[in-house]
Amino acid sequence: MSRRKRTPRSVPDHYSRRARAENYPARSVYKLEEIQKRHRVIKPGDAVLDLGCYPGSWLLFVSGLVGRRGKVVGIDKKPVTKPMPPNVTALEGDVNTADRDFLLEILGRADVVISDMAPDTTGNKFTDAARSFHLAVAAFNLAVAVLKPGGNFVCKLFSGEDFKNFTDMVKKNFSRCKVFKPESCRSESRETYVIGFSKKENTNVGSQ
Ligand SMILES: C[S@@+](CC[C@H](N)C(=O)[O-])C[C@H]1O[C@@H](n2cnc3c(N)ncnc32)[C@H](O)[C@@H]1O
Repeated sequence: MSRRKRTPRSVPDHYSRRARAENYPARSVYKLEEIQKRHRVIKPGDAVLDLGCYPGSWLLFVSGLVGRRGKVVGIDKKPVTKPMPPNVTALEGDVNTADRDFLLEILGRADVVISDMAPDTTGNKFTDAARSFHLAVAAFNLAVAVLKPGGNFVCKLFSGEDFKNFTDMVKKNFSRCKVFKPESCRSESRETYVIGFSKKENTNVGSQ
């Protein structure tokens, strides 16, 4: 009988077991929980746009943070099948081609945009970092288009040669920028979160 090799990702760790016990579909919820605990990016009553929202852990967590007066809209290429609370709308679509007017219509100007988008990985760290940068720029451009002045932006990005270009874009368009690596990120992961606090009145879109 052949045994399947247990890679680090296939071994359920503390966070995966906790996510299952707390009825979250993914362990990634604890990354946002850490970001929120440390940086208080989301407030009750906020309108939040969640990019790369499948399978829905961040949607569920943010739904609780914003409460009944708040709203969460998520977009992902994959459909979210987990039942969601009434203050959540999950859309199927590609962030690169998202209809900004439609988003503004259903969410209004956003207080916070969060992106946990991850590319299909190849195992080549340069290719994966370049794909991650491409997604982060798409998230940034959508964020500056839909955020209120004063709004916050949280974006996952793999470390790589474009990392500084991205933080420079965030620094130029937000009053403050922080780079944060949650403890719940897997040790082998190259992902980090870039946080832009308080969007400036006049912003410039980024290019790749
Ligand atoms: C790590 S998962 C997100 C997990 C989610 N935050 C949660 O807690 O349930 C990354 C997601 O990014 C999505 N994604 C990648 N590229 C995308 C794109 N161009 N547009 C929309 N979603 C995308 C993938 O389909 C995947 O579901």
